[in-house]
Amino acid sequence: MTDLRRDGPAALEWAARYLERVSELPVLAQVEPGQIRGRLPTSAPEEPEPFEAVLRDLDEVLLPGITHWQHPRHFAYFAVSSSEPAILAELLAATLNSVAFLWRTSPAATELEAVVLHWTAQLLGLPEGWHGHIEDTASTSTLAALIAARTATGRGTVVCSEQAHSSVEKAARMLGMRLRKVPCDEEFRMRADAIGDLSEVAATVATVGTTASTAVDPVPEIAEACEAAGTWLHVDAAYAGAAMVCPEFRWAFAGVDRADSLVVNAHKWMLTPMDCSLFWSRRPADLRAAFSLVPDYLRTPDAEDSLSLSEYGPALGRRFRALKLWAVLRCVGASGLREHIRRGVSLAERFEGWVAKDPDWELCAPRRFSVVCFRLCGEDERNQELARRVNASGEIFISGTVLAGRHVLRLAVGQMSTREEDVEQAWEVLRREAAGL
Ligand SMILES: Cc1ncc(COP(=O)(O)O)c(C=O)c1O
Repeated sequence: MTDLRRDGPAALEWAARYLERVSELPVLAQVEPGQIRGRLPTSAPEEPEPFEAVLRDLDEVLLPGITHWQHPRHFAYFAVSSSEPAILAELLAATLNSVAFLWRTSPAATELEAVVLHWTAQLLGLPEGWHGHIEDTASTSTLAALIAARTATGRGTVVCSEQAHSSVEKAARMLGMRLRKVPCDEEFRMRADAIGDLSEVAATVATVGTTASTAVDPVPEIAEACEAAGTWLHVDAAYAGAAMVCPEFRWAFAGVDRADSLVVNAHKWMLTPMDCSLFWSRRPADLRAAFSLVPDYLRTPDAEDSLSLSEYGPALGRRFRALKLWAVLRCVGASGLREHIRRGVSLAERFEGWVAKDPDWELCAPRRFSVVCFRLCGEDERNQELARRVNASGEIFISGTVLAGRHVLRLAVGQMSTREEDVEQAWEVLRREAAGL
């Protein structure tokens, strides 16, 4: 049988050792589809095994099939760092195993969630008094916003830019809502002058920090149009929202105080592990109107009812996600978060400088935060082959996208352990592989 006192230290040692050695492992898993599954038994064991067997197989069987998101040279997607206080808090949350669907099923979980959302709202410079709760992902937060908007307005159309995250289109599709995509300007921001008639539109989604190039939509102009038409404004700041802890990036949140709802993923750039998506709204009554459905077996006195966070979003069972964010806010502090954001941005800036100086390479979008969009001069195929080769090296992991019809490479900085030498190595690997094309 597993025993916390006997097996716990080994698991913690595994975690500590993993973080020390992760930079020595290939970033992108170098396995073929089915390879890991083929090494696992086809049925669960009949008799219990010791926990040390699980740890052993984690090393021997699973680790080769892990793409290392905690790796300092994981530059492919927006960084998702799991910091030490949050790792420990996840262990404690699993130990408590609260299911906070009603206030009374875990008052502290519900109330701490309100407190950490309030603290974070202050850190990001949001208006006082917004309702805030945690969803699993930004996809769910945006889905929730669109549901509330449809219920509040009785309309069936969603508007976003052609650079909005696919979660907006997916939510509209799941809801059977029509989607209209607004064209972008040369810097990949929604063209507010092309937003069109919003009188039949339930919700407009503006993005602060688009996925491909981290562009910032003109939220003040979009808010103006939404207010005039009675349209719900949802702001997707899943990645860039975290940067608002630093006053120098607050320009990007201009107009966000006029939003009806906002999503920022703490599990992206805020040192908190998956999953922890922060959802705020200044219209909690509209959320409750859309989501409150309390069956007899869950009825409690009304004062308690209105605090139950399951009445403000799609899920009933809610795990104690606030604990890990609380641990991060307390053990890293606002100063530590600012330092973390600034480090990522300044490393991206350095990389951008090297690309700008080299005539064989070109920058493809303005760098707003910690993502650099760039390419090797020449055809798309060369860039695709280059990405394939650098990723196969296991030394770095980058991603690609299409901007203005061309294939572009993306270097997303922001992992907590990334240092200057890691970004230098990325540039070296890219130039080495480019020379061999
Ligand atoms: C701008 C933006 N919105 C939403 C999402 C979806 O996030 P999640 O995986 O939390 O659903 C992403 C993912 O990277 C994103 O970049």
